[in-house]
Amino acid sequence: MFPLRRNRRLRANESIRSLIRETIISPNDFIVPLFVVEGSNIREEIPSMQNYFRLSLDKLEKEVNELWKLGLKSVLLFVKVPDNLKDNQGKEALNPNGLMQRAIKTVKNACPEMIVMTDVALDPYSIYGHDGIIENGQIANDATSLFLAEMSVAHAQAGADIVAPSDMMDGRILEIREALEDNGFSNTGIMSYSAKYASAHYGPFRDALDSAPVDLQNIPKDKKTYQMDYHNRLEAIRETRMDIEEGADIVMVKPGIAYLDIVREVKNMSEVPVAVYQVSGEYCMIKAAAEKGWIDHDAVMMEQVTAIKRAGADLIASYFAKDVVKLIS
Ligand code: PBG
Repeated sequence: MFPLRRNRRLRANESIRSLIRETIISPNDFIVPLFVVEGSNIREEIPSMQNYFRLSLDKLEKEVNELWKLGLKSVLLFVKVPDNLKDNQGKEALNPNGLMQRAIKTVKNACPEMIVMTDVALDPYSIYGHDGIIENGQIANDATSLFLAEMSVAHAQAGADIVAPSDMMDGRILEIREALEDNGFSNTGIMSYSAKYASAHYGPFRDALDSAPVDLQNIPKDKKTYQMDYHNRLEAIRETRMDIEEGADIVMVKPGIAYLDIVREVKNMSEVPVAVYQVSGEYCMIKAAAEKGWIDHDAVMMEQVTAIKRAGADLIASYFAKDVVKLIS
């Protein structure tokens, strides 16, 4: 008697393994998140995100050119807003000469074909570190959505290709789509953070932008009234369906590795491309363990981005994008 099927035949050597490989990572899989700061000649490492930097506009230009040469075709911009420009309404976000607006133009001037995506949410602009406007100690849904629509138009005016609302207010995709259409930006796309969980994996990102929710009386201490409860899967489906109906061009699941069941379910029901955000906490865990010598950095990095793609991601927003592309090229 011999085994009915010898599966190991197709694993016997690297050639045969390559031939039957199902999931291949390429530069087209990635969105590169970038953190932008005021000033010049600044490339400061984010303490909790080893080898990841906040960039002033001159350094942003250099970075974008480098990314393009590596075959990376999209960036997702985040700005670190000076404290004196923060308020409860996010007013600075609409400043035509604000940091985000200048960052968009910098990327587009340096590299016109690079797809520029912009983060749309209040937290970097909020004195409270929340994604929305606070009224009576609560995140005001509809007022926030209206504001995010204005913010999206402002980004489109500055040249953004795709706006990426990361706030989780109800109804904001429709509000944003209408505002873009009304203002002549019918070609500006929306990538919606549709299934964004209230996760403990965002800490380093909040360090990078100094945007953590403040600890003040009468202000919610966390984002659990708008980001999703990680015990749940059904609402991820509902959120995604609604965002597609409201006009999202791309939907997103976030975070990545701990949510691959959700990624697969969303992929199976979605008629639009699915993005996954491999977030800051996922990044720093690999960096820290590798620094300790406890894991092989490159091997774990490749395994995790491949797992995210295998689960159904059409696009991966990842701080590893550059490392991965250098490794596979
Ligand atoms: C904020 C925003 C967050 C991230 C992307 N956009 C943080 C948050 O919701 O508190 C997290 C990304 C990361 O951790 O890498 N709207």
